[in-house]
Amino acid sequence: MSGGVYGGDEVGALVFDIGSFSVRECGMWLEPCPGADFPTTVGLLAPEEAALELDGEKEKKPGKVYYIDTNSLHVPRENTEVLSPLKNGMIEDWDCFQAILDHTYGKHVKSEPSLHPVLMSEAPWNTRAKREKLTELMFEHYSIPAFFLCKTAVLTAFANGRSTGLVLDSGATHTTAIPVHDGYILQQGIVKSPLAGDFISMQCRELFQEMNIEIVPPLEWFMAALDPVREGAPPNWKKKEKLPQVSKSWHNYTCNEVIQDFQASVLQVSDSPYDEQVAAQMPTVHYEMPNGYNTDYGAERLRIPEGLFDPSNVKGLSGNTMLGVGHVVTTSIGMCDIDIRPGLYGSVIVTGGNTLLQGFTDRLNRELSQKTPRSMRLKLIASNSTMERRFSPWIGGSILASLGTFQQMWISKQEYEEGGKQCVERKCP
Ligand SMILES: Nc1ncnc2c1ncn2[C@@H]1O[C@H](COP(=O)(O)OP(=O)(O)OP(=O)(O)O)[C@@H](O)[C@H]1O
Ligand SMILES: [Mg+2]
Repeated sequence: MSGGVYGGDEVGALVFDIGSFSVRECGMWLEPCPGADFPTTVGLLAPEEAALELDGEKEKKPGKVYYIDTNSLHVPRENTEVLSPLKNGMIEDWDCFQAILDHTYGKHVKSEPSLHPVLMSEAPWNTRAKREKLTELMFEHYSIPAFFLCKTAVLTAFANGRSTGLVLDSGATHTTAIPVHDGYILQQGIVKSPLAGDFISMQCRELFQEMNIEIVPPLEWFMAALDPVREGAPPNWKKKEKLPQVSKSWHNYTCNEVIQDFQASVLQVSDSPYDEQVAAQMPTVHYEMPNGYNTDYGAERLRIPEGLFDPSNVKGLSGNTMLGVGHVVTTSIGMCDIDIRPGLYGSVIVTGGNTLLQGFTDRLNRELSQKTPRSMRLKLIASNSTMERRFSPWIGGSILASLGTFQQMWISKQEYEEGGKQCVERKCP
């Protein structure tokens, strides 16, 4: 072996899993879950303001000021837009991405980047140009000693103790089925649908509009003292007096936080295709908004998430050809070689925050049972732990990076220096 092999066990490697919804990161000193989990969304101060904030010394090249992490993002500010560095699961805004890494190293890892090898997850459809650019950034800018890029689905399979399986991932921006065989992605079998968590949030927002329910984010409003407190008095919330002129994007972000809680608390996936009469009998759930407004939700609990499984009746998606979750899985398996299909049906791994919707896996199990060819055995693998469902790529990464046999797979700094950024294609297929 060349001297370029990274010996890498003297200091801990770092594992980064940067999704559209949140950044999962930690040193993988065999901890069961990431040390940090913060929004991928950041605040960006308008450039004119940034020029005033940064004195000549401190100014970073792009001359931008970012507000990163929950606490900082939650402060209402003027002239600050909310944005994400990712688009379609891939890095689009590199300045913003770098700001997130700077924040991670400075505030969470609290150690020199040059001391830690980095294993990073990537979207299965990441492009060659972006992979090479990222490799260059990590070695040139952060001077890391070793690097590895691995597809999220492969890491999820490892987290579930498999090297072959069909990974069904439903996160914020998309739902995908990704066949993994012997630790490699079968690109021809990837099937993707935009119906995921953000789509459900949008449907909830429409429901609130229809029901005339105002979303009152606690970051912009506060509860005024009720004086005297009367039984049954309506919530007495007032807009914060000194609230700066916040941007529309920031306002939307704070509203979405309220909606996401509603999503997780109230919605339920019906266990069979939606039927209005059945839904009408559904026990209602009482939900209280942060401002105290409360009411019961019945049929809509089932109606909203139904679009994930049966998009044909979703308003605004008319004439759509989008696939429901069950079809996403069967279409994906159908595009793979017939010999490996039994292995895929035998390990359908369910992951991603949106799959935590109540009833999601039961419905999926039911739909797939009906569609699985008789000759094959269906097995759904869905962890009961919220952590494992949301952090599986990170967990898989921490397992992989700690394996003795993996150590020769790192791209070492020396290999990068000899082979250039192109080496990522060869080392990280
Ligand atoms: N308990 C829950 N019940 C329902 N939905 C949830 C729950 N927890 C998280 N979600 C939803 O899951 C989504 C985030 O999922 P996840 O963390 O897997 O996304 P991501 O990996 O960051 O994004 P993506 O995979 O789209 O790049 C959000 O839409 C959030 O509202
Ligand atoms: Mg994800």
